[in-house]
Parts: sequence; C-alpha cells; structure tokens
Amino acid sequence: MISLGIIGTNWITEQFVRAAEETKAFSLTQVYSRTEEKAADFIADLGKKNIKISTSLEDFFDSKDFDAVYIASPNALHFSQAKLALEHGKNVIVEKPSTSTIREFTLLDNLASEKDLYFFEAARQIHEPIFKKIQSYVDENRAELSGASLSYMKYSSRYDDYKAGKNPNIFNTKFSGGALYDLGVYTVYDAVVLFGQPDDVCYDAEILESGIDGSGTLTLKYSDFDVNILIGKTKNSYIQSEIYFNKKTLLMNSAGDITHVQLADENKNITTVPTTKSDNPMDSEAAEFARIITENDKETYEKLLKYARIVNRILEQARTSAGLVFEADKEK
Ligand SMILES: NC(=O)c1ccc[n+]([C@@H]2O[C@H](COP(=O)([O-])OP(=O)(O)OC[C@H]3O[C@@H](n4cnc5c(N)ncnc54)[C@H](OP(=O)(O)O)[C@@H]3O)[C@@H](O)[C@H]2O)c1
Repeated sequence: MISLGIIGTNWITEQFVRAAEETKAFSLTQVYSRTEEKAADFIADLGKKNIKISTSLEDFFDSKDFDAVYIASPNALHFSQAKLALEHGKNVIVEKPSTSTIREFTLLDNLASEKDLYFFEAARQIHEPIFKKIQSYVDENRAELSGASLSYMKYSSRYDDYKAGKNPNIFNTKFSGGALYDLGVYTVYDAVVLFGQPDDVCYDAEILESGIDGSGTLTLKYSDFDVNILIGKTKNSYIQSEIYFNKKTLLMNSAGDITHVQLADENKNITTVPTTKSDNPMDSEAAEFARIITENDKETYEKLLKYARIVNRILEQARTSAGLVFEADKEK
C-alpha cells in the first residue's frame, strides 16, 4: 500500500484522492492545508476519519506517515513543494504544469534521480483509454500524418473574479497562471505524445493587464507539418480538434477533455471510434502511477519523464516567444 499525503484542498484534489483510492494501491493518510478548518472539511467531504492534518509544510514533510505526495497547489508553488518532498524522501505526483521554468524542472528531475524517487507530472488525459486509441491510430497511420488543429478554450469561472479586480491565482504572474500554463498544457501533451518533439515553437498571446495570457494561438512546427493550437480562459470555443492523415481526418470533441472520437474516411464518411471513458477522468493516471510504483516500472516512468521534459521546455519556449514573464523567472 502506498500511503498518500496531499497538498491543496480544492475539488481537483478530492477527485484525485477518489481515483487513487479506487486503485486500492493508495491510501490517504495525511492532509496539508494552510488552515486546519479547510483540511478538516476536505477530510469530512471524503467521509474519512483518522487522517493527520498539518498546517506547516515542514511538519507535513517531516511525517513518516506517507510515502508519496500529490501536489495540487497554484502552479508557482509546485517547485518549492515538490523539492521539499523529494528532500524528505517522498515520491511526488505534481499537477500539471509541474514547474514554472525549465530550470526548476531540471532541478527536480535531477533531485528525483539522485534520491531514486518518482517524480510524476500529472497529465491525466494521456493515460486514458480514449487517448491510447488515438495514439494507436496515429502510430499505425504515421506515414500519412499531415498536421493537426487542436482547440481547448473555456471561459474560466475565475475570469469574472479577475474582471472584478479580485486577482485570482490563475490570472496572476506571481502564481504562473494563464491559458498556456493551464489548458495549454493538455494540448502540448497531446502534440508531444502523439507527434514527438517539434522543431520550432511560436505563441501569439492575448496578454491581459495582469501580464498573463487570457488566450492565444500556439504553433508547433514539425519537419513535415504544423500543429495549430487554440487555447484560452477568457472565451468558450466549440471548435473540434482534428488530426489530419491526407484525405482522412480524426475528429475529437476536445483537445483536453476528450470524450468522443470520430474518423472521417477518404469518402467523407464519418464513423465513431468505440472506446471507454471512466466517470472520474483521473482514474487512469492514478492506476498507472500506482502500477509503476508498485512494479518499479522504470521503463514506463522514464518515458513519462521524457514527455514531461519536452512539454516543460515547449511551455517555456512558447512563453518566451510571447513575451510572457512569470515572477518565477526572477528566482535564481
Ligand atoms: N488535471 C486536472 O484536471 C486539473 C484540473 C484543475 C486544476 N489542475 C491543476 O491543479 C493545480 C491547482 O489548481 P486550482 O485551480 O485548484 O488552484 P487554486 O484553487 O488556486 O489552489 C489550490 C489549493 O492550493 C492552496 N492555495 C491557494 N492559494 C494559495 C496561496 N496563495 N498560497 C498557498 N496555497 C494556496 C489552497 O489550499 P489550502 O487553502 O487548503 O491551503 C487551494 O485549495 C494547478 O496546478 C492546476 O493546473 C489540474
């Protein structure tokens, strides 16, 4: 059994804990929150008892009561919290994006390897059966691959708070927010896992007054084709995502929350690709992390880490090309 500590008490952590415990390999033992009350509410919402609470990060990581931590705090805090975790001998599962800069990523990558600990970036969609189906199709038809258009744009409930002057974390450079470092991460993962590392990256962003990108268009250039990506947190898009194979096209309802895939053949006949989808979109990643840790499957782990390295590098390149600066860039 892998005992689990968690950081962050928002809905996403509850969803992950439910998925993790569903695997029967993880068991929640400890909760960190800045306030005792939030931690207690979080535990009560899960219907649990006898879970340790910490309101100090040092006390939390000094605990011998958990082996792995799931971190779902604002992006800019991931690095320092994951670093502390690794220094205290804990395996790390950190929400996407795991870091704000490639410098931070490399430090954690090296530290995890030095300590022989796991450092997972939680990119949930790449582990889902529906994504694996797309991946198999791309692999089988690679010779015909001729580009992709990906779209993931959702009006954030926090954009209203932003416009009301409340300065939410996700619209703030201090917390490494913005469209690219949120929904954009899913689209970059799609491209990296399906098509590999691009040769060139360019991001044209609509930058808000706070200095972060509300939306933008990202282009990933490969030797034979382009991947054009639309991302945003300040508007809703209903455009499908598509992958092109000469006359054939694979159609996906979304680039991040993929629930429906269709294939349009040479004659423009459209058929649905049958697949399964779990009610909890984090089930597949939790099961995969549990399996990798339990079986000590270093080969799969290294493959995931390689994706994460490429994704984090692309994010920084894209951000730089758009002139987006985070406070984390100033850290030495
Ligand atoms: N994979 C997915 O499907 C998915 C979905 C949503 C979000 N995410 C990722 O999950 C992470 C958290 O996102 P979120 O929207 O939940 O973020 P958030 O609401 O801004 O913060 C998450 C948690 O961090 C703590 N926190 C908030 N502000 C803080 C501050 N100023 N200083 C220290 N701690 C603070 C809070 O916990 P306490 O008050 O208990 O300390 C809060 O519950 C992000 O990296 C995001 O990309 C992933």
